[in-house]
Amino acid sequence: MAIRKIREEGDEILKKKSRPVDEVNEKIQELIDDMLETMYKANGVGLAAVQVGVLKQVIVIDVDGESEPLILINPKILKEKGQQEVEEGCLSFPNKFAKVIRPAEITVEALDRNGKTFKVKAKELLAQAISHEIDHLNGIVFIDKILPGTLEYVDPNKNKKE
Ligand code: NI
Repeated sequence: MAIRKIREEGDEILKKKSRPVDEVNEKIQELIDDMLETMYKANGVGLAAVQVGVLKQVIVIDVDGESEPLILINPKILKEKGQQEVEEGCLSFPNKFAKVIRPAEITVEALDRNGKTFKVKAKELLAQAISHEIDHLNGIVFIDKILPGTLEYVDPNKNKKE
């Protein structure tokens, strides 16, 4: 495993759309492992491959650090329900936080790290994280959809990033 460089604000790659993964092979699994290591090192709860410069539809999420991380390859949103107003950050926008509207519940179908199709239904923080990371795959960053007047800079040691 290796730490990869996180692309930050101003990097044009963050605005690009990621392509579906054709085959979940060893190279993709190595990417996933690197993304997990990179995310944990940065104290994040989610990371999309584009954030490490790879335009592939791969997401890693771990919102509680207790259960197994969630790996989503080629995710498709099947259903969104309700709304939640949440405070959010992003590893590509260090120390910036703002309020955004996310779905209260989200149901997604994706491939797991072995290439097997599965569904996940999430709410609260996990729904927020999945929505945030799928946005990354579409070239959308949270700064694009913040509620006016809510952007703030906070202490770099604050531990709440996605
Ligand atoms: Ni992000």
